Amino acid sequence: MPGRFITLEGGEGVGKSTQLRRLADALGARGLDVVTTREPGGSPGAEAIRRLLMEGDVERWTAQTEALLFAAARSDHVARVIKPALDHGAWVLCDRYIDSSLAYQGGAGGIGMASIMRLHEIGSGGLLPDRTLLLDLALYDAAWRELARDKGNLDRFGRKSGSYHEGVEQAFRELAEHNPDRYRRVDADGSEADVTERLLAAIEDLL
Ligand code: TYD
Repeated sequence: MPGRFITLEGGEGVGKSTQLRRLADALGARGLDVVTTREPGGSPGAEAIRRLLMEGDVERWTAQTEALLFAAARSDHVARVIKPALDHGAWVLCDRYIDSSLAYQGGAGGIGMASIMRLHEIGSGGLLPDRTLLLDLALYDAAWRELARDKGNLDRFGRKSGSYHEGVEQAFRELAEHNPDRYRRVDADGSEADVTERLLAAIEDLL
């Protein structure tokens, strides 16, 4: 039986990585074979591309170059990690995936959704998740960036402008509205346990 492909999306600092681990534990406890991974990265080749994307000046790459690098990283990740795991019947939980490219490069970066999907078709055969969980904590997002900026540990994306990040949020909201079968918006406010329960409820129909 083929596995299931679940992705977590959202702005920065909403606790995606913590929730991904908690969700993996919960599914593992139900006896499922679970593989957790992340983007950009997730395979040795894609992690090498990740370093190009995350380090350096905010203006290091144009939106076009960024889109191509993300698509290239994803192509390697899908071919070497995600597809093989799904073929083995695993549940693959991925921290960010194509919807981040759609929201960041496609929406905020101005490349457009159709072009991002063309790249995804070429790079990864257009592979889409069975479910995309959008962790919603809009207000926290900006506050988190401010705090991280004060500490001097923001990566290239965190250092992009407030209006860029507003564009990301708006694009995610529109993506969720236009893809109601695949998307679930999950309130990320509350205790870690509460959020995990909400995430589990949002994939219950796939179990
Ligand atoms: P990372 O530190 O991995 O994640 P997070 O913000 O989820 O804690 O940062 C990845 C950054 O890359 C994040 O700011 C979003 C951005 N990104 C894109 O712009 N396009 C993409 O396709 C992906 C996967 C990420």
